[in-house]
Amino acid sequence: MPYRSWVSVTVNGQQHRLEVDHRTTLLEVLRDHLDLTGAKRACDRGECGACTVLLDGQPVYACHLLAMQVRERPVVTIEGLAAQADFRPVMEAFVASDAGQCGFCTPGFAVATYAALQHYPTASEAQLRWELVGHLCRCNAYDKIMVAVQEASRRRLGAS
Ligand code: FES
Ligand code: FES
Repeated sequence: MPYRSWVSVTVNGQQHRLEVDHRTTLLEVLRDHLDLTGAKRACDRGECGACTVLLDGQPVYACHLLAMQVRERPVVTIEGLAAQADFRPVMEAFVASDAGQCGFCTPGFAVATYAALQHYPTASEAQLRWELVGHLCRCNAYDKIMVAVQEASRRRLGAS
């Protein structure tokens, strides 16, 4: 019989108290309990980056963390970022560059791009590639994704 506990999570500035199985991942909390489906469930084992969210401001794989590990630490999903003005250059760059085919990897890439540009606003292309190394695109749209990432960098610098 699975063990269940109450856990509080703070997602996009809102606190939620949920009763979950001890094995419940952060991704399951987001998608299945809070109806935040921007973070995608693809590999579900920490290999592709489609489920990326920010935890304490750092990009993490939500499928690879238990809700019990996260607790009160602030989580921001792509839905939360979409409400922030400083995410707009990233979002617009991905749209303008037509960087997605199926789009399944796009939220993870966009969240990681935002985090990379937060930490390294003037990052070179090589640095940005390194920051995104944990992200896979099954449609092989990498060239357009990197165009979008560099465009996001230019737009953010232009807006600051
Ligand atoms: Fe989490 Fe692939 S779904 S890393
Ligand atoms: Fe389809 Fe990247 S656009 S997985």
